[in-house]
Amino acid sequence: MSGTARPSEGAANQSPERAQPANRSHPLPREGGRGVGLFTGTARPSEGAANQSPERAQPANRSHPLPREGGRGEGPSVNTVPVIAIDGTSASGKGTIAARVAAELGFHLLDSGALYRLVGLRALRAGVSLEDGTALAALARDLPARFDGERVFLAEADVSAELRGETCADAASRVAVHPPLRAALLSRQRAFRVAPGLVADGRDMGTVVFPEARSKVFLTASLQERAERRYKQLIAKGLAANIATLLLEIEERDRRDRERVAAPLAAAPDALVIDTTGLGIEFVVAKVLEHYRGRG
Ligand code: C5P
Repeated sequence: MSGTARPSEGAANQSPERAQPANRSHPLPREGGRGVGLFTGTARPSEGAANQSPERAQPANRSHPLPREGGRGEGPSVNTVPVIAIDGTSASGKGTIAARVAAELGFHLLDSGALYRLVGLRALRAGVSLEDGTALAALARDLPARFDGERVFLAEADVSAELRGETCADAASRVAVHPPLRAALLSRQRAFRVAPGLVADGRDMGTVVFPEARSKVFLTASLQERAERRYKQLIAKGLAANIATLLLEIEERDRRDRERVAAPLAAAPDALVIDTTGLGIEFVVAKVLEHYRGRG
């Protein structure tokens, strides 16, 4: 661990009661059909904790609300539940790798991007400006979202497909620049840290949300390859896609994520950086597991 490591607030604040929803959870939805192309795999988000954690006897599709923010204990306890933080650029394979690693270890899975996408979608629907950080934070604090396997519900409407689209991805990266919104989602994300462990993927898992994560990985790949992966994902879903457009969109999102002041996209100093260009899923999963085990 680097000098940036410190006990997590989430750990200190997390009561078992609050942790409960995540225990039953199920993996948040992944980036639109992340199972195609180079990163094709049998891994699906629900395979992780649902199949391998001690809770696996529970119905895999048991639905649950989002872990709530706040009220997570007053004691000075330290959360020792291991976290693997997987950050990286858009379409770098984070979701697929995170799901596979979680499945291997029987850990829970947090797709933090889904939270930003949900806020973006809710804002678009409610006519809330994507520039209004305060209003967006209010939306985030009171997200009527529910996860059921790979399906995501917003106010009881199934938004799974919409959430994966480029419109939500764009809205997510726009809302994600606002510090009040990021602050509103912070403890909600930390509430996913429950035994036996958590694999969290996003942009700031290792730098901000879980700076004390046992293992940190930063994934990237060439822009061309990332656009091609996304293209294959969309086509496999029967959606229209254009590589040139995807290249521009992904590049723009990465630029926005890197240049924002709040929690910019960056590898933690102690992260293992993997350029996945040309690499297969199994190889990358093995690298991540090896890194994690080497930190134990
Ligand atoms: O990972 P995903 O593509 O679903 O994320 C969508 C957007 O949400 C990202 O482009 C980024 O702007 C934002 N995000 C973030 N911090 C995270 C996860 C996602 O800012 N931890």
